[in-house]
Amino acid sequence: MAKEQEHVDEKTFTLTNDQTGESVRLPVKDGTCGPSVIDIRSLYAQTGHFTFDPSFTATGSCKSRLTYIDGEEGLLMHRGYTIEELTEQSSFLEVAYLLLYGDLPSESDFKAFERNITYHTMVHEQINYFYRGFRRDAHPMAVMCGIVGALSAFYHDSLDIWDPQQREVSAHRLIAKIPTLAAMTYKYTMGQPFMYPRNDLSFSENFLYMCFALPPEPYKVNPVLANAMDKIFILHADHEQNASTSTVRLAGSSQANPFACIASGIASLWGPSHGGANQAVLEMLSEIGTKDRIPEFIARAKDKDDPFRLMGFGHRVYKNRDPRAEVLKSSAHEVLADLGVNDPMLEMAMELEKIALEDEYFIERKLFPNVDFYSGIILRAMGFPTSMFTVLFAVARTVGWISQWKEMIEEPALKIGRPRQLYIGPQKRPYIPMKDRK
Ligand code: CMC
Repeated sequence: MAKEQEHVDEKTFTLTNDQTGESVRLPVKDGTCGPSVIDIRSLYAQTGHFTFDPSFTATGSCKSRLTYIDGEEGLLMHRGYTIEELTEQSSFLEVAYLLLYGDLPSESDFKAFERNITYHTMVHEQINYFYRGFRRDAHPMAVMCGIVGALSAFYHDSLDIWDPQQREVSAHRLIAKIPTLAAMTYKYTMGQPFMYPRNDLSFSENFLYMCFALPPEPYKVNPVLANAMDKIFILHADHEQNASTSTVRLAGSSQANPFACIASGIASLWGPSHGGANQAVLEMLSEIGTKDRIPEFIARAKDKDDPFRLMGFGHRVYKNRDPRAEVLKSSAHEVLADLGVNDPMLEMAMELEKIALEDEYFIERKLFPNVDFYSGIILRAMGFPTSMFTVLFAVARTVGWISQWKEMIEEPALKIGRPRQLYIGPQKRPYIPMKDRK
C-alpha cells in the first residue's frame, strides 16, 4: 500500500492579519495524491480566529486511505485502483474487502470473507415483526432509517467499539444484513412475503432473489441483471467525504455504536441533493413527459427565480466528468437490450443530456450527468419502483460508511467532531418579564 507522506516541519504556510500585520506559520501536510492541506488546528490558539467554511467547500475533515477523487480529471480510485478497473474486473464483495481491509484479498481470504458475509445475511426473526409497525405506503427510506437504527437493539454482542473483534462482527453484519433489510422493506411495501436469503447465490444474485422471488414459483436470476446490479453496487460503494459519510464519521466520533452511525448515514443519504437524486431524476423525466418539452425544463433549470434543477446533473467535486456515470451509461444500454425494453425514458434522458451538454449555462458551470442520471433507468428496467432507488444506493454505500467508520475508530486518538460557528444572533441582553414586554 502507498505510504502516507507528511512533511509537517518542512512546509509551512504563512497567514498575515492585515489589521495588525502579525503573521502565523501553519504546517502544510502532503497526502499521496491531490492538494496539500494547511493544518489550522493551532490557528485559534495563535490568533483567536476560527476559519469559516459552512459547506466544507475547502476543508479536509480527516485523513483517509480509502478513496481518492480528482474532480478535474474525473478520476475515482479505491485504495489506488480506478473505478473503471474495479467495475470491469472485480466484484462488489471483493471491493468491499478492499475498502474494509486495504488490499485486494488472496483467493483464500476472499473465500473466507465471502462465506462470512453470506452466513450473516439472515436477520433476527423478531425483526420481521418490527416491520409491522410501519404503514405499507411508507417511503422505503423511512423504513430503512428505523430498521437499521433498531439493529443495535438486536445485536448487543457487537456494540463495544473498542473491541476489534466486535467492530469486525458489526461491519460484517451490516454489509450482510442491509441487503436483506432492503429487500424486506421492498417486499413489505409490495405486500408480499419476505424471502429468506439463499447461501448458494452471489451477493447481487441473492439480493435480486430476495427482492423479486415469490414463494409459489422458482425464480431464476438473470445473469445480465445480476452483473448490472453488482456494477451499480461497486459504483456506489464509497465516495470519500460526502454528506452521508461525513454524517457517519461525525456520529461515530461521539462513540455511538456502528448500527446507529449507519442509520444516520441513511438519513443523510435520503435527500435529493445526495442519494435521493436517482429517484428525483426519474420523477423529473416523467414530469417532462415528452422530448419537445425539454427546452422548457432547461430554461427553468437556468432561471434563478425557479428552484427547479436538472436532477442528475452537476457534482460538488467532479468538474469535467463523473466516471461512474460513463460506466452506467453503457450498462443501461446492455440491460435494456437484454430485457428487450424500449424505454422512452432512456431516449429522453439521452436527448436531455445532449441538449444540456451543448448549452452555454451548463458548459460554463461544468454541469454534466452524474452517477444518478443513468442508475435510475437501469433500476427501473430491473423492476424496482423509484422509491427504492435510494435504498439500493444505501445497500452499496454501507460498505464505504462502515469502512470509513472503522478507519476513524482505529486512528490513535479519536476526538469528537465539533465544528465552530460565526455567531450572528443578538448580543447579550437582559431578560424582560412578560408583563413588561411591548
Ligand atoms: N441544474 C441547474 N443548475 C445547476 C445544477 C443543476 N443540476 N447544479 C448546479 N447548478 C448551478 C447552480 O445554480 C450554480 O449556479 P450559479 O453559479 O449561477 O449560482 C452553479 O451551478 C454551482 O452550483 P452549486 O449549487 O454551487 O454547486 P454545489 O457543488 O453546491 O452542488 C449538487 C452540487 C450536486 C448539489 C448540484 O449540482 C445539484 O443540486 N445537482 C442536482 C442534484 C443531483 O443530481 N445530485 C446528485 C449528486 S451525485 C450523487 C452523490 O454523490 O450523492
